[in-house]
Amino acid sequence: MTNRTLSILKPNVVAKHHTGEILTLIEKQGFRIIALKMLQFTTIDAAKFYSIHKNRPFFRNLNLFMTAGPVIVMVLEKENAVADFRKMIGDTDPQKAEKNTIRSLFGESKTRNAIHASDSEENARQEISFFFSEREITEKPYLLPIPEKEIDA
Ligand code: CMP
Repeated sequence: MTNRTLSILKPNVVAKHHTGEILTLIEKQGFRIIALKMLQFTTIDAAKFYSIHKNRPFFRNLNLFMTAGPVIVMVLEKENAVADFRKMIGDTDPQKAEKNTIRSLFGESKTRNAIHASDSEENARQEISFFFSEREITEKPYLLPIPEKEIDA
């Protein structure tokens, strides 16, 4: 079944100019980017987004990192998007991530692990609505009618 997932390119990959490269990998795997924006997390928003981890020892560090620079948030759509994208990004720890996964290629540590992805369909719905209103999500992204020939004015 076609579903949607939420992804965040984290501040380390944006700062290191890996955005284009990662978007290319994602599109080549058949994910459609149906919404995308760049933003900078506030401390409050990062704490809200990661509230499930609020009692973990790494929470403060994660918050400092996620607010350190701009991130790119996007909604991806595909058959089985949630599970397939988790597979494509790899383990939370880049050292343990399978070869050629996004985290193995671009991650530097468990905190600086390059990219976030929703871990369930329910969380994907919540995370998507955290960042995007329905009208910011395109419905028919690849059905643009393109005339076969240039039309003379
Ligand atoms: P992410 O997919 O964004 O979701 C929660 C984040 O918490 C995770 O990626 C990591 O960046 C971070 N994280 C999870 N576990 C640890 C850990 N043991 N040590 C440091 N950071 C962690």
